[in-house]
Amino acid sequence: MKNYKDTAIWKILSSLKEQIKYSILDFKYSKKYKLCGLEKEILSNVRKNGYYVLPNFIDPQTCEMLREEVYNSFEKNSGFLQDPEDVRLFGIDTVSSPIYKLAQMDVFKNVAKAHVSQCFAFAMASVLKFDKTKKSIGSGGGLHRDTIYAQIKFMIYLTDCNENNGYFELIEKSHLALYKALDTLRFNLGYNNNRYENKYGEIIHKLKSRHKKITGTAGTLIVFDNSIMHTGHPIKEGERVALALYFARTEFFESLSILDKFMLSISSSSRNKMLINEQKIRQRLIRQLIDKDVIMELNPDCAPSYGIKSA
Ligand SMILES: [Fe+2]
Repeated sequence: MKNYKDTAIWKILSSLKEQIKYSILDFKYSKKYKLCGLEKEILSNVRKNGYYVLPNFIDPQTCEMLREEVYNSFEKNSGFLQDPEDVRLFGIDTVSSPIYKLAQMDVFKNVAKAHVSQCFAFAMASVLKFDKTKKSIGSGGGLHRDTIYAQIKFMIYLTDCNENNGYFELIEKSHLALYKALDTLRFNLGYNNNRYENKYGEIIHKLKSRHKKITGTAGTLIVFDNSIMHTGHPIKEGERVALALYFARTEFFESLSILDKFMLSISSSSRNKMLINEQKIRQRLIRQLIDKDVIMELNPDCAPSYGIKSA
């Protein structure tokens, strides 16, 4: 006879219990930090709905300059580009000083720290281009969660993003423990599964009121808990350039051996090297683990120096 602990419902309920435990811990954790008005607003929306959108976070001239930085960095570091769908460069803040400087803004680390205990941080740029010879599946490869437990990601559109050039979309509140359990049961998503590309049509049809399309002009900031269901929509024309800052839970990197395994696995998972300036990024991760803090700065002798002024 099947042990009741092997049943899907038992596993989902156990996962719900874990999720609630983490949510309570995260809530208590956030009380430790004093945030400014905007940071509080971002955090409360990310907590409640799973996301927050801030138009005009970056002005058009700065967007244009950052876009050029992305193109130049891609050209100079072509051996590190990843191209599963959009073309990505992980660790771009280690080669571009304007992007490095942007990543130092307090709002990112303050909100990240207050959301959950997060210390793993790195920047990525992506360029999604329409290619008529290729079927677009969207940035991220279809509906998914990046992680099962709460984390946070900041994304900035560097080009205008409309209904046709790969907008970001998500299912509101799907990061909440209770909704994770209910949606899993309702759509038979499976225990411990985070990819739902085959259920996309059914989910957005039945959860119409929670399905949000995030279009916006260049400079729009999108902050989201990346345990929310999300994807980039397939591109139909033009291109979309975006920057993203990732933060991960401290628990995932609690020892250096886990960190080393992780660095090794991401470095060996593609034909190109995954991380540019891996040693600089590793040094920063170690400092974060030791200090138990979110640190966006690289060691001064490692940071891209051109054009950097002290903040
Ligand atoms: Fe994702």
